[in-house]
Amino acid sequence: MKRLLTGLQPSGEITLGNLIGSIKQMVEYQNKYDSFIFVANMHAITVNQDPTILKERARNLVALYLACGIDPEKNTIYLQSDNPYHANLSWVLECNTYFGEAGRMTQFKDKSQKHKNFSVGLFTYPMLMAADILLYDADYVPVGIDQKQHVELTRDIALRFNNKYGETFKIPEPIIPSNGAKITDLQDPTKKMSKSAENLKGTILVLDDINATRKKIMSAVTDSDNQVKYDPLNKPGISNLLTIYSVLTNMEIKDVENKFKDANYGELKKNVADVVCNTLESIQTKYKEILNSNLVDEVLDKGKVKTIELAKKKVEEVFNKVGLTR
Ligand code: AMP
Ligand code: TRP
Repeated sequence: MKRLLTGLQPSGEITLGNLIGSIKQMVEYQNKYDSFIFVANMHAITVNQDPTILKERARNLVALYLACGIDPEKNTIYLQSDNPYHANLSWVLECNTYFGEAGRMTQFKDKSQKHKNFSVGLFTYPMLMAADILLYDADYVPVGIDQKQHVELTRDIALRFNNKYGETFKIPEPIIPSNGAKITDLQDPTKKMSKSAENLKGTILVLDDINATRKKIMSAVTDSDNQVKYDPLNKPGISNLLTIYSVLTNMEIKDVENKFKDANYGELKKNVADVVCNTLESIQTKYKEILNSNLVDEVLDKGKVKTIELAKKKVEEVFNKVGLTR
């Protein structure tokens, strides 16, 4: 079975866009791949973090993924900081990365402009990410488009290392969910739904209050011709609502379009709101149950033991090859 690996930043909020564009895909992948999912909390401290909040967010993120259908029996789930080998390998990779090529990372360029006193960690971030991936011989790495350059750098570093020291790392491939549904902002349906939107009236968070969610959908921006039709270019608002309904009910877009062809916009919105609210309510109930149980710790403990064993072997091999032995 091919291995798939991805890291999640414990940034606190998960939108309906993340749920549909990314988590739902991970739930499908878990039946096809040997899936590794970890919380990239060490990446999070490249910028300033409140320690208490960081700790809480890591736990909450695991609980939320489990509540969304990530099966702990089918996935290896772990916390990056639970395994010291990530930072170990990262150092060796840093020493095999050119300063110039790391300096070309667009995320670093963007973030270092935004923060006045940015850390060295912000610069070495991609090499830690390369270590996350190369430690476990991952075949596939699903990431958002903004992270693709980091996976490409990972490939370059791995190839260079293999050439210099002999076959050591598997060369990973990024998977960009381009054919997955893109959910747009409810207030500005030409923009991607995002947790960093200025106006959160257009963004649904998975842990949002259910009544507030219903209101957001009922006041979604549409158009004035009152005809339900899937046409993302001319009718982005209505098309977005049809997409949301389609993904959450597992119906084809054309069947959804057909179902609502005689409905007015109010009726369509009410139906979309029902489906979204039912989905979120069920996730939120499970989320609370999980947080009140020991499941998160049990899952992370298991992941820690398994990944330390795998990573230890890889790092020993690397240290041997590089000459970091007696
Ligand atoms: P982000 O929250 O932007 O870091 O994205 C994390 C993952 O969620 C990426 O794989 C994105 O492709 C996916 N994602 C984020 N927002 C949306 C959206 N509005 N529609 C579909 N997928 C999304
Ligand atoms: N940098 C990724 C992000 O911000 C998170 C991440 C860290 C990651 N390590 C990884 C993703 C390894 C995939 C593989 O989203």
